[in-house]
Amino acid sequence: MTDWMIALGFAVAWVVTFKPAWRLLIRLVVAASQPDFRLTNGRFWLDFALYRLIIFVPYVIPLVFASRLPNLLVQLIWAWIGLSIIVSFGRIVGVKQLVSGLWQVYGLVYDGLLNLYPYRHLLELTRDRLELSSANRLLDVGCGTGNLLQLVEPTEGAELVGVDSSSVMLSRARRKLGGRAELVNSELIEFLGLQPDASYDRVALVNVAYAVPNREELWRQCLRVVKPTGRIVMTTSIAPGSKVIVQEHLRHDRWWRLLHPKLLMVGLVDLLISELSRSAVFEFPPQKQLIGEIQRAGGRCSQIERCYGGREQGVNIICTITR
Ligand SMILES: C[S@@+](CC[C@H](N)C(=O)[O-])C[C@H]1O[C@@H](n2cnc3c(N)ncnc32)[C@H](O)[C@@H]1O
Repeated sequence: MTDWMIALGFAVAWVVTFKPAWRLLIRLVVAASQPDFRLTNGRFWLDFALYRLIIFVPYVIPLVFASRLPNLLVQLIWAWIGLSIIVSFGRIVGVKQLVSGLWQVYGLVYDGLLNLYPYRHLLELTRDRLELSSANRLLDVGCGTGNLLQLVEPTEGAELVGVDSSSVMLSRARRKLGGRAELVNSELIEFLGLQPDASYDRVALVNVAYAVPNREELWRQCLRVVKPTGRIVMTTSIAPGSKVIVQEHLRHDRWWRLLHPKLLMVGLVDLLISELSRSAVFEFPPQKQLIGEIQRAGGRCSQIERCYGGREQGVNIICTITR
């Protein structure tokens, strides 16, 4: 077997195994970062064995054909080193740091999402639902890189406030908005707790509710700070799956925009987010549960609609909440 055939075999193996291997690696780090993690956890070892298998077996096949089966002992040493790195990394950072690091890294690539039609459409839907007018005061909760604020910014006279705990996200937002919005680096619940009653006409939450551990408190605070005549517009994911999002993109925009390197990185970070939701750090609640939470906090949901992947099968809901 020639060298280029071996190289091709490796390339195919890499493409096929990259996603499952990355997913398993994330799962292992997340598991090791949990406060109650023990090395006796059987599930952890099963995932580790699977991870080793996935990154080892496909590479062996071309090597076997080329009669270059690697030394098993070397593989075992690598397995041990890999395990130590995973466990130490998870233990050292802990789940809280892992989450805050996630938002920082996400901030570096987040605007890659602007290449994705469904995301741009989601922001436009949110802007339209807000019906912001001059002299209105808008709070964007978890404003990220300021994409929504940038979209509503031409509304003359409106006062814009954004809050987020990621300094990387906020530095991007500052670059876009200059001094045209007040941007605050703070934990959401803490920030909301400091705001006077009925101090905003509009409150927006775009793709942030799933990341807040105490969601009922989030709804209570948002409903407290919004004026009785005001409204909250919230959109969040209620179902997994990226297929419908890609399909919606292809119906409206060029396919090659999906290959933007930053958007591909967003895809990798999203795998970490979905892994964190499996271990209950994040939660993507179903629609019924979400509406129940909002009602218990004293809110009323109207105009509930699916989006982010189309009106039929979209993975997000967008809803308007009033007191
Ligand atoms: C997926 S991004 C959404 C960004 C933005 N809303 C957009 O236009 O899409 C979630 C944002 O929420 C922020 N976030 C998550 N949990 C937070 C918390 N507890 N306090 C402050 N910000 C938080 C993250 O830093 C991140 O910027």
